[in-house]
Amino acid sequence: MLALVTGASSGIGRDIARELVAGGWDVILVARRADRLRELKNELGKHAQCIRCDVSHIEECKKLHEVMQPRNIDMLVNCAGFGGCGFFDETDLDSELRMIDTNLVAVHVLTKLFLADLVKKNSGYILNVASAAGFFAGPYMAAYYATKNYVVSLTGAIHEELRQKNSRVKISALCPGPVDTEFNDVAGVGFSSKPITSRKAARQGVKGVMKGKLYIMPTAKIKMLKFVKRLLPDRFISRMCFGFQKKKK
Ligand SMILES: NC(=O)c1ccc[n+]([C@@H]2O[C@H](COP(=O)([O-])OP(=O)(O)OC[C@H]3O[C@@H](n4cnc5c(N)ncnc54)[C@H](OP(=O)(O)O)[C@@H]3O)[C@@H](O)[C@H]2O)c1
Repeated sequence: MLALVTGASSGIGRDIARELVAGGWDVILVARRADRLRELKNELGKHAQCIRCDVSHIEECKKLHEVMQPRNIDMLVNCAGFGGCGFFDETDLDSELRMIDTNLVAVHVLTKLFLADLVKKNSGYILNVASAAGFFAGPYMAAYYATKNYVVSLTGAIHEELRQKNSRVKISALCPGPVDTEFNDVAGVGFSSKPITSRKAARQGVKGVMKGKLYIMPTAKIKMLKFVKRLLPDRFISRMCFGFQKKKK
């Protein structure tokens, strides 16, 4: 079985690749930092291959799919992503557009292209690494939360379409809260609550997609927050999220 993992040079993606290889999979590691990919490839040995690709460029995503066509991919993991924080009228537009291209457009394009292959053979998996942020509006991290809302919504819709078609293809959204990775350094924030390890997030993600779960929430706290959201007014929830985000700065 062969999986393609974007964002494999660090954090959750790197641990998902490790988890898959431990479970008998071969992996294709995708990211921009070739040295990091080579390091992981050396660790994983003959079970890994790496491809340097900047998924924020649609053409590179399409090329990646084209190159992978003969390889008969069994699992796509969309994990590449990053965040940014600040008041929306003050944050940098270009950086946000890159974020939208990476977190949202690339996930859309790769999911579409690889899903068609998987549906044709009626087997396989797609694991979209979203976030607990995907269930909420995120004042002070508005664009990041919005990208993850898209991933959660898209994944949920495709999950139901596959069920309606009686397809054996499985798609899931991994929705962790804080995870201890390089994410915060890139986003320029700190933690506002205790993070879980990327190993735990990765393990739950792989287990969850195999089981065909729609949303994979690695901690009880995230499940509880998602439930509580249904009971409280949106404005109250947004105020609460602002509090979380502000503490990170
Ligand atoms: N950490 C958290 O608290 C947390 C919580 C919920 C969800 N998530 C999500 O989990 C995913 C992984 O993040 P992480 O926490 O593991 O952070 P991380 O350690 O910073 O890893 C991010 C990965 O994305 C890759 N990446 C970023 N831009 C890319 C691009 N344009 N093309 C290809 N690869 C790109 C990076 O590789 P290169 O720089 O080498 O390209 C790196 O491998 C993200 O989608 C993030 O939103 C994180």
